[in-house]
Amino acid sequence: MSDHPARQLASDTYAGICPEAVAALAAVNHGHAAAYGDDAWTARAAGLFREFFEADCSAFFVPTGTAANALALAALCRPYHSVLCHADAHVQTDECGAPEYAARGVKLVPVEGPDGKVEPAAVRAAAAKRRDVHSHKPGAVSLSQATEAGTVYDPDELQALGRAARELGLRVHVDGARFANALATLRVPPRALTWEAGVDVLCFGGTKNGLPGGDAVIFFDSGLAEGFEYRRKQAGHLLAKMRFVAGPWIALFESGALLRNAERANGMARRLEAGLRRLPGVEVLYPVQANAVFVRLPPGCAEALHRRGWHFYTIAGGERLMCSWDTEPGDVDAFLADLRAAAEAS
Ligand SMILES: Cc1ncc(COP(=O)(O)O)c(C=O)c1O
Repeated sequence: MSDHPARQLASDTYAGICPEAVAALAAVNHGHAAAYGDDAWTARAAGLFREFFEADCSAFFVPTGTAANALALAALCRPYHSVLCHADAHVQTDECGAPEYAARGVKLVPVEGPDGKVEPAAVRAAAAKRRDVHSHKPGAVSLSQATEAGTVYDPDELQALGRAARELGLRVHVDGARFANALATLRVPPRALTWEAGVDVLCFGGTKNGLPGGDAVIFFDSGLAEGFEYRRKQAGHLLAKMRFVAGPWIALFESGALLRNAERANGMARRLEAGLRRLPGVEVLYPVQANAVFVRLPPGCAEALHRRGWHFYTIAGGERLMCSWDTEPGDVDAFLADLRAAAEAS
């Protein structure tokens, strides 16, 4: 038992910066370079995104995932549009109305779906509900990959959603704060989870995968990217010292840490899940397909674990336990030992 665990299971944003990104920060910190993204590292990173997705996509860095989602949705939508998203989607529950703020009138319409996922039938039903001029006009569907329940959409599910969106005239946005975790699970080419399935824009997260910050907005349709650099600047999200965002992304791609970090986090989540399933009275709530495990614990156990120094959040009807790129097997085992002790004492 430890009063102050070295690494928490509260969030992958609790983790620090991975060594490859630290080295990249030092490597780009030499002399002067053109500001606001006109530097060689930002150009190199944009090229790596094109290679990664095997597409002529446009990449824009912004400081946070919230900024990425809000500005991307604003680029897809007119102010009178609605965005269909899962009721638990981060854009809906945790962004303080940023998409509505950035898109000046856009309305998020939450839809329910099992395991944190939006299903084509739910998109069709929500889009069919009201089409008159007094209601918002459905303009886009927003999906989270991995989802807020720690599940992933496979290529077939995405294809079906993409087809439904096309039939209904909707654009497709993906909140990929944990896109790398989904990729590490599915082991398919990145194109299969994006443009091949009809995704128009991906907000590709690095912050939860070992970077200090700086997520990438990737447009697969260059028409939609038109004017995005002005939108980003106007919102105050154009970083002057862009090389310090681009450099760590280059390191993630070139060192392989992008998938390695995500695989490590996912593997630790599977270890945690296996241990939790061996404990009586513990219920795992969703399939564990990325780096999060949602559980219902026996009465009193969450409080006892908090008293022992563990931080974690109660979300979506359960306790969310989140592994990071730096989670060690010993962290997971220490948590499980403390939980076992708490359960026996309760
Ligand atoms: C699914 C998802 N999307 C977007 C974000 C937003 O990221 P940020 O906190 O960098 O704004 C988060 C952050 O937790 C998230 O979990």
